[in-house]
Amino acid sequence: MIRDILRMGDARLLERSREVAAGDWPALAALLADMRETMHARDGAGLAAPQVDVRLRVVIFGVERSARYPDAEPVPWTELVNPVITPLDTTMEDGWEGCLSVPGLRGIVPRFSHIGYRGLDAQGKAIEREARGFHARVVQHECDHLDGILYPMRVRDFARFGFTDVLFPESAGIDE
Ligand code: NI
Repeated sequence: MIRDILRMGDARLLERSREVAAGDWPALAALLADMRETMHARDGAGLAAPQVDVRLRVVIFGVERSARYPDAEPVPWTELVNPVITPLDTTMEDGWEGCLSVPGLRGIVPRFSHIGYRGLDAQGKAIEREARGFHARVVQHECDHLDGILYPMRVRDFARFGFTDVLFPESAGIDE
């Protein structure tokens, strides 16, 4: 089922989501199925549970290499429960971001360029990975949602924040 996505300005997006506990697992498969359907219906690169009004630490993301997004590096399809991020380098890099909760806009956001992340998959198996570049960016963006942080809260240069179709008249862009 496609769920409504909360939009910026809704105080529910600013709450900290809680860890998935043992009692939450039975309902998780249905939540993840709805999140996948909702994200794909909106052509997103990722989605966090609080965006569909469920304040649990659950995120999904993935980007295939496609003609539509020629500049996007592929990001492996991932469903991540109780994620934890560890920066592996202090280097930050700027990059464009969008968000399904902030439709129609893009901004430049500084993110750690090299991270480790871990968590559990949909079956409860451990996932542990290293990520760089766009992959690292998507993970940091989605996990921020779990702490009530939307990407505009990290924008430093509002001279490079604006409407997608004005900034990038040629491209549809990706929303996270
Ligand atoms: Ni987002």
